[in-house]
Amino acid sequence: MKKIKTMMVVATVALAAVSCGTKNGTAEVEPPAPKVLVLYYSQTGVTKSVATEIATRLGADIEEIVSVEPYDGDFQATIERCMQEREKGVVPAVEPLKADLAAYDVVFLGYPVWFGTYAPPVAAFLGDADLSGKKVVPFCTFGSGGLESSVAELAQAEPQAELLPGYGVRAARMDAMPKEVDNFLKASGFIEGEYVQPEAFAESHPVSEAEAAIFDAAVGDYPMINAKAKSVATRAIPEGMEYLFTAVDLPRKDRPNMPPAGEMEVYVTVAEGQVPVFTRVVR
Ligand SMILES: Cc1cc2nc3c(=O)[nH]c(=O)nc-3n(C[C@H](O)[C@H](O)[C@H](O)COP(=O)(O)O)c2cc1C
Repeated sequence: MKKIKTMMVVATVALAAVSCGTKNGTAEVEPPAPKVLVLYYSQTGVTKSVATEIATRLGADIEEIVSVEPYDGDFQATIERCMQEREKGVVPAVEPLKADLAAYDVVFLGYPVWFGTYAPPVAAFLGDADLSGKKVVPFCTFGSGGLESSVAELAQAEPQAELLPGYGVRAARMDAMPKEVDNFLKASGFIEGEYVQPEAFAESHPVSEAEAAIFDAAVGDYPMINAKAKSVATRAIPEGMEYLFTAVDLPRKDRPNMPPAGEMEVYVTVAEGQVPVFTRVVR
């Protein structure tokens, strides 16, 4: 694993205005620091805590996307309302933003993953807003995963925006979030400092019994995953080891109407002395 001193990778988004020497006797001045807005939707506060962490670390403005008719029911009521809206093709309206989007160069856009993509209030915001020409940094929280699938939809919804790498975290891993956000912001060049760039995974191999047990221990308590690990690749991380399992979905006795979804990738961390924890699922 490599520790890298940030050299301001995204130079255009991270530097304050400073005079920087002369060329042909003329003083060169760096462009002013870009203006950053952290914009998020959060139903139950998990994404809000990530948004607050990012805004605090960057000293950026922050605003919540607010539904005109809030999703204030419990989990099951929200699922049901959402399914009805999806069936009818309804995207519930959101309040107009207080911030003037035109004044910002970079928008961090945060949301909970619902049904594999950004929650409907973010779809409503994207329908109203134009992020063309802006740098957009997606971040999300989820039960098991959805950064990749939601970002793919975001790219379709905002083809003229410049999408930068995003950050996603399970709601069950909020204790790990501040350190991960710090590393993410450094690795993306938004703040200065050393960050950890994990090495590539080694070549994958069929799972051993011990590795299958690690997979089962990591996903065993999570009701939405019923899968069997087939192969795995590993790499060292600061906490211990990371496993990238390829697993196949199994038919579910408790949900006979739900067909197996095929293969999935499951990232599992085993920190020294700790039980295995899955960090995300990519379906
Ligand atoms: C209607 C609904 C659909 C959801 N769909 C998914 C999903 O497809 N995948 C997933 O990993 N988590 C899913 N979740 C879990 C949320 O993404 C997760 O709890 C999130 O951290 C909540 O963030 P919030 O507190 O900011 O609202 C869903 C939750 C709800 C309410």
